[in-house]
This record gives sequence, C-alpha cells and structure tokens, in this order.
Amino acid sequence: MNIAIIGTGYVGLTSGVCFSEMGIDVWCIDVDSTKVERLKRGQTTIYEPGLQEMLRRNAEAGRLHFTADIAEGIANAEVIFIAVGTPSAKDGGVDLSYVVSAAEQIGNTITHNAVVATKSTVPVGTSKRVAAIIEERIKARGEKIEIDVVSNPEFLKEGAAIKDFMSPDRVVVGVESERAKRVMARLYKPFMFISDRLMFMDIASAELTKYASNAMLATRISFMNEIANLCDRVGANIDMVRKGMGTDERIGSKFLYAGCGYGGSCFPKDVRALAATAHSLGLNMEVIEAVERVNNRQKSIIVTKLHEALGELKDRRIALWGLSFKPETDDMREAPSRVVIDALLAEGVKVVAYDPEAMEACRGIYGGDIAWGEDMYDTATDADAVVLITEWKQFRMPSWRVLRRIMRGNAIIDGRNIYDRAEVEEQGFVYKAIGK
Ligand SMILES: NC(=O)c1ccc[n+]([C@@H]2O[C@H](COP(=O)([O-])OP(=O)(O)OC[C@H]3O[C@@H](n4cnc5c(N)ncnc54)[C@H](O)[C@@H]3O)[C@@H](O)[C@H]2O)c1
Repeated sequence: MNIAIIGTGYVGLTSGVCFSEMGIDVWCIDVDSTKVERLKRGQTTIYEPGLQEMLRRNAEAGRLHFTADIAEGIANAEVIFIAVGTPSAKDGGVDLSYVVSAAEQIGNTITHNAVVATKSTVPVGTSKRVAAIIEERIKARGEKIEIDVVSNPEFLKEGAAIKDFMSPDRVVVGVESERAKRVMARLYKPFMFISDRLMFMDIASAELTKYASNAMLATRISFMNEIANLCDRVGANIDMVRKGMGTDERIGSKFLYAGCGYGGSCFPKDVRALAATAHSLGLNMEVIEAVERVNNRQKSIIVTKLHEALGELKDRRIALWGLSFKPETDDMREAPSRVVIDALLAEGVKVVAYDPEAMEACRGIYGGDIAWGEDMYDTATDADAVVLITEWKQFRMPSWRVLRRIMRGNAIIDGRNIYDRAEVEEQGFVYKAIGK
C-alpha cells in the first residue's frame, strides 16, 4: 500500500515512520524544504524517543520518502493524510489556513481516486470543508476524480509517540462511504493484530471525540490543581488525596497529578477551540472555560512559591530544571516554563536554565535573555533557588549534598511534586511543592 502524509511535524513524522515500519510505502511531504532536506539525510527534526533509529531503518529499506513536492508525494497514494498544524486563532478558535492550503494543493494536483484523511485536530465540519475544497479544485480543472474524505484524529502523546502509534488504545475513523471504510480498515490492520481497536463512526463524532478527549484530560489536571491549592491552605497532602481518590475504579489513578499547569501543542489550544466552537453556536461550555482559567493561573504558582521562599526576587539567581512542556520531548509550545521565565525576567531575576533536549528550541525563544547551564548542577551553581519545572528522569534523584554545597541559597521549588519533603528538608533546604 502507498500512502502520503502532508505535514511532517510531531504527528506527521511519527505517523509516517510508524506506517513505514509496518511495511507500508510512505511519502512524507512538507512545505519546509530545510526540514525535508534534513529528513532526507536521515536526521529527525524533533526529539522523540526511538524515532531516529526507526526513521533510518525504514528510509534505508526504501519504504520511507521525503519531499517538498506535493505532486511527487501523492502521485500513487491510496490514502493522503493531512497532518499540518492547527494553531489557535486570535479569537481562541482554530487557524485552519494550513489545512485549507493542504486541501487546495491536493485538489490542484491529484490525478487519481483516493481517500483523504484529516489527522490534524480540527473542529466539527472541517472534514466536510476539506472535501468541498478538493472537489471544487478538481472540478475547476475539468477532471473527474473521486475523493472520499474521512476524519482520523490522532491520539499519540509526545514522549511516547511511537508506542502510542504502534499499539494505540483506539483508532477512531469517521467515514461516510463503504469504500473509504474498507481502505482505512486495510491500512490499520497491521496495528490491530492483537485486538481490534479500530472504531468507525460518523465524521462529526470522530472530529469531536478528539477535542472531548483532550478537554477531559485537561479537566482532570485543572481539577487536581485546584484540590492541591486547597491542600496547601488546609494542611492536607495532595499525594495522599490522589492515592485515596485513584483507587475508586470510576475515577482511576491515571492523570491525577497536580503540578504547575499543563502546556504543549494540544491541550491549551484544543480546550480553547472547544469553547470557541460552542460559543460560535450560542452555547457556553462553563466547565471547559474554567479549566483554561485555572490552568492559566496555575502556571504562575511557581513564582508565588518563589516569593514565599525568597521574598523579593530582583537580582536573585534562579535555576530552572526542565523547560519542555513535558519530559521526553523538545516541544516548547505553551510550556509552563515560558510563563515562569517571562515573569521572572519581568521581576529582574537572573534566570539560568537547563533541559536535556529542549535547549535548542528554548534558545530560539530567549536567546541571550537568560543564561544556559551545561547540566543540572552547573545550572544550580550559585543559585538562590532551584526550580523543577519538567520532571525529566535525570532530575528525580539529585544529590542534595552537592546542591547544598554549590548553591548560594537553599530554596527548592518542586513544580511536579517528585521530591520527598523530609529528605530535602533534612539537608537544610526550604522546600515548596504543590499541595503537599
Ligand atoms: N503534537 C502532538 O502531540 C499532537 C497529538 C495529536 C494531534 N495533534 C494534532 O496534529 C496536527 C499537527 O500537529 P504537530 O504537532 O505535528 O504540528 P507541527 O507544527 O509539528 O507540524 C506541522 C507541519 O506541517 C507543515 N505544513 C504546514 N502547511 C503545510 C502544507 N500545506 N503542506 C505541507 N506541509 C505543511 C509544517 O511545515 C510543519 O512541519 C495538529 O492539528 C495537532 O493538534 C498533535
């Protein structure tokens, strides 16, 4: 089977590499020719565990190709995925310009019948809009080509993207024709050998399933953050509360962690988009709107904790551990670290930062405004406080004795609740966490 993927970012690249791993012939297309050239040389453009080796292996086997030329990329494709970005628009809705442009390009160049699958996260109605654009462009060329548009939202998590794609909890496909259903079932068959988790539904439901899933996950985070903030006031421990809650099967123990807010390329924009969609239809989604408000507030909690520990922050030297929006990715989009860095810079703080993989991406944003550590201890040297923002594994067990020796001050702000208060305080540190 031959497929094409338009947009070779976090989702497009991972999907393309994983499909090729299953023996499928994949063409990955991107408008960014620098990205395409790098990928052609066998180098990944993002950090995702396991991706580099899998990319090389499949490219060398001749199953994985990269191009900036849409006509070349889709020439023989039975399925063409649209996996371009869908960032927030200024009004909180979705900027669909990349999706529209991909649809126009398909309509302008396609020469054979095919299935077009929207993998980008898009508001209800977008797949229908994509179908109309393609049809209109084909008609304008005087051609007769049949295109079935389906919705196939992606649920992979950055940091575990390969595992999620290779053994998905579910694959959701919104279809309207039997022909498209057959093609999609065949494409995903290699991923369903152990158990069939392929779900067909109508297109609107498929589009909405993606937003509802992300909004639910974001809701759990904001909910736990509110409970954690209450724990701080009443002297309870959020870790205990979480364990007590999570054993209830109806609640479950996953995704119940308090911290300094969610970020990334999906939750913030998808929560906003869901609320905006509802608004445009005269409906207020009050829970969803509160989730966003709570999260925005939570991103500043680190700065509040720093004030509690140090008082005035001007001219202090503050070390930040972890910058990406979560571990095992270099993605800095809407990362809580950015809110913290901006607030600290505004207060005249000397910020020193370190991340195992996101340094390049973060340097692109802050350049010379902050100082960059070589590693976690270099970053902490002479600092008044160390702030853990992103819980990469290497930060889990620092040597408190070394830190005590190299730091100027003694404040530890644990933005992800991963340290043991007694152990940290025993070494003479002032320890602040979120709700414990
Ligand atoms: N990142 C995630 O973890 C994740 C997970 C699930 C779903 N999604 C959704 O998947 C979509 C893509 O997200 P991403 O994080 O991979 O985005 P990204 O920004 O990393 O990648 C998008 C890519 O599309 C390319 N592009 C834009 N217009 C193009 C065009 N007309 N032709 C060819 N290439 C084009 C860009 O150059 C870029 O490389 C979004 O809708 C997102 O919400 C993302």
